[in-house]
Amino acid sequence: MRTLELEAGEVGEAARLLREGRLVAFPTETVYGLGADARDDIAVARIFEAKGRPQFNPLIVHLPDMASVEAVAELSPDAARLAEAFWPGPMTLVLPRREAAGLSPLVSAGLPSIAVRVPSGALARSLLTQAGIPVAAPSANPSGRVSPTRAAHVLRGLSGRIDAVLDGGPCAVGLESTILQPRSACEGGGVRLLRPGGLAAEAVEACLGAPLLPPPAPGGTDGETPAVTAPGQLASHYAPAGRIRLDADAAEPGEVLLGFGPVEAAYNLSSAGDLVEAAANLFGHLQALDRAGVPRIAVSPVPRIGLGRAINDRLARAAAPR
Ligand code: TXA
Ligand code: MG
Repeated sequence: MRTLELEAGEVGEAARLLREGRLVAFPTETVYGLGADARDDIAVARIFEAKGRPQFNPLIVHLPDMASVEAVAELSPDAARLAEAFWPGPMTLVLPRREAAGLSPLVSAGLPSIAVRVPSGALARSLLTQAGIPVAAPSANPSGRVSPTRAAHVLRGLSGRIDAVLDGGPCAVGLESTILQPRSACEGGGVRLLRPGGLAAEAVEACLGAPLLPPPAPGGTDGETPAVTAPGQLASHYAPAGRIRLDADAAEPGEVLLGFGPVEAAYNLSSAGDLVEAAANLFGHLQALDRAGVPRIAVSPVPRIGLGRAINDRLARAAAPR
């Protein structure tokens, strides 16, 4: 794949590519993001493939304004206050997700929450407005490398792996967004700092008139490891109620097969054996098996290469005894 280099004046072309399900890196005030249509399972799966992420970390959804945020997430009074004070800007809020919004479950890695942000970069705003779709975007770097603050950094890491990069010059903030999670009233209220970033914690505390709470578990400050929570806790979110048997050649009596490749199966991650398609279907199929109340699930072997590593990581957690 040849990566198109687009100038700021070609933002309309970048918006069109995003609407077509392509991967477009774009500048925000914090760092360059690798954007894709957040409603498109395949496009979102391709983000993980391009970055070579060994796990499906949840992604931030970028939106142009409050109305579009309210369409995908529920805002508590604390969240509304923070949004009013700091958006557009380098702040991400992790909020309860509205299922009806039609976002790909892969965007939030099967979690019931969704991370949202209204960036302040002029080019980012114009791109989001023209695209008219929610844009999922992690930082536009290969997994484990530093975040890019220039188009040239993006190309150095991802040239040939993404469809286009929109060049908006250097990022003004140069540090990823500050990630906050307001807790519900039944969790005791307050706001958690999940990742320090481009918005100072002091400014947030001044706005809330209360100190920020620490994250539930260590990790997450590099933006690549989940800011979420310990892997064990994360596991319980996407583990279906049914018991899971991995690397199964076929379903045994009483099992439903979650297939991969050319096998006879009630649910198939990808009958063509395509790992991008399999990643796109993974959380949706696990949720469907859960809704159907399937007590025992057998899963075909999925090769441990490319996105197959992340798929196996998630399946192993889902299968872990609990
Ligand atoms: O400034 C930024 O935030 C940049 C620009 C492109 O917006 N984006 C960015 O994305 O840094 P990324 O994927 O590199 O980091 C996103 C962080 C990850 O640590 C992820 O675990 C966390 O956000 N995150 C996303 N959704 C979450 C959720 N539902 N709950 C908890 N953490 C979440
Ligand atoms: Mg990152």
